[in-house]
Amino acid sequence: METEIIKITDVDKQQNIIRQIGEVLRCGEVIAIPTETVYGLAANARDEAAVKKIFDAKGRPQDNPLIVHISTISELPNVAEEIPQDALRLALKYWPGPLTMVLKRRSDIPASVSAGLDTVAVRCPSHPVANAIIRAAGVPLAAPSANRSGRPSPTTAAHVYDDLKDRIRLIVDGGACSVGVESTVLDLTSTPPRLLRPGAVTVPEIEAAIGKIEIDKSLFGEIDPDEKVSSPGMKYRHYAPKAPVEVYCGKNTTTLRAIMQANPKPNEGVLCFTGCESLFPFTHVFAYGKADDYSAQAKNLFAALRACDDQRVRKIYAQCPPDEGLALAVANRLKKAGGFELVNCESELVVIGLTGKSGTGKTTVASVFGNMGAAVLDADRIYEDLSLSDDEMRVELVTHFGPWVIRDGQIDRRALAKKIYDDKKMRQTLNLITHRHVIREISRQLNKVEKQGYRFAVIDAPLLFESAANELCDITVGVIASKADLIKRIMSRDGIDLTETLKRLDAQPDEKFYYEHCDMIIRNNGTKKDLTVDSEGVFDKIQKIFSKGEKTDE
Ligand code: TXA
Ligand code: MG
Repeated sequence: METEIIKITDVDKQQNIIRQIGEVLRCGEVIAIPTETVYGLAANARDEAAVKKIFDAKGRPQDNPLIVHISTISELPNVAEEIPQDALRLALKYWPGPLTMVLKRRSDIPASVSAGLDTVAVRCPSHPVANAIIRAAGVPLAAPSANRSGRPSPTTAAHVYDDLKDRIRLIVDGGACSVGVESTVLDLTSTPPRLLRPGAVTVPEIEAAIGKIEIDKSLFGEIDPDEKVSSPGMKYRHYAPKAPVEVYCGKNTTTLRAIMQANPKPNEGVLCFTGCESLFPFTHVFAYGKADDYSAQAKNLFAALRACDDQRVRKIYAQCPPDEGLALAVANRLKKAGGFELVNCESELVVIGLTGKSGTGKTTVASVFGNMGAAVLDADRIYEDLSLSDDEMRVELVTHFGPWVIRDGQIDRRALAKKIYDDKKMRQTLNLITHRHVIREISRQLNKVEKQGYRFAVIDAPLLFESAANELCDITVGVIASKADLIKRIMSRDGIDLTETLKRLDAQPDEKFYYEHCDMIIRNNGTKKDLTVDSEGVFDKIQKIFSKGEKTDE
């Protein structure tokens, strides 16, 4: 059968089409509709034959129950009975919205909707198109996510088309889903109520409304397929792209460190937090939201997993957010996709990123931190060492620039620096190659110093932010100094003339950049003693911040 896609951008202006869609549903057809969470594959919940079509189109096992969708809270008694106070309280607070409640099923809802259970899962979606379609249909709609069984849930009409083309008549395109992960599922037939699936209505939100709830143990691990579970859907390997997913849990700085060290290959994929993508230039990389932007992660996760399939990646390395708030839902989907094979990256090491223009006194600051007990990692030194020893980096440099970069078996860093100085594109290529290797080596050394018992490490890196090495850091410190001081120091230190010195300084970011990017600033007034005292003060402060376990912005 031919699959038609109808776009609905304005519910009011497109009432006619919506009326027709309602009619099609009432007549027993199955169609895909947008909701705020993911796209659903909807059919009349009162019509057994229509419901069967859903299972057929999806290739869904018959023992996995469906969610029944209604358009207002007042329809709830038409599908469920013995509705507890708590359910009404939650419905009043979170409907329409991404919350599904499992309640006692009314007998006129066919048992096949609930895969034979005497309960029914009910939800009232807030997407205006979904809501209008349910109203137009005039019947409750049974709808699972509109993916082929086992695939990640679809968050755009195009995803639905990829999965169900020629298997369903119609896809209603209502744009990209705003939430991006499926609704929260809460079982209110047990006492206390039990969370079966985390979603955008979070545990603290639910508990604020109805008190303490239980978390189903399936959220934390794979369950025995023979075990009788309250939500049969949970036993299937859901949300899964074709490639195996390795899920890295822990602080975002340490998960990144671990993935860098794992060294993903070009035919593999990385799902990382936004900001780290430049560290994986030759790998399929999908940035799915900033580390602390859980709603962006929720919105982008499934599309990223699908993109991995499109690129046919062999393996996926994924940074996983913490089990809190909306991130609990994101983490849950990722862990399920990975079959709960987790890489635990807990770390006690506090990583300090130190940066500033050349000549500001960074190195002095680093050695003060070192004297106070931090391990000191010097990015420039590491680059120097790697250019002698890292074959992979050397091969990449020769491939991109030509054999001249090697002299006497070593990388001629001076020739390289000179050649690329005025060529922005070449400079970018060089950085693309070297930063990745340097950061991988930094990651390795961070692990090493942590094993040696260090509690603090400082990365001294002039291009801390440009190289994305800041993503490995728990806190960043910028060192600044007056231009006159910088000129004086560079000229005497490096033996270059004023023009050359100015050229070098102008190629580096201005003071404002460091104020904007760094958590803390040290201003070098030109006196070594003052700089030492100030640095000691800053290190003390950092120790205090992390002994309390919290980071503050300066
Ligand atoms: O956001 C959503 O909920 C989306 C959109 C389309 O509304 N729907 C969705 O449906 O995710 P589905 O079928 O992919 O997931 C429904 C989940 C499954 O884990 C299923 O086992 C559980 O809800 N479920 C359904 N009925 C249940 C019941 N009576 N008791 C326990 N769990 C139930
Ligand atoms: Mg589903």
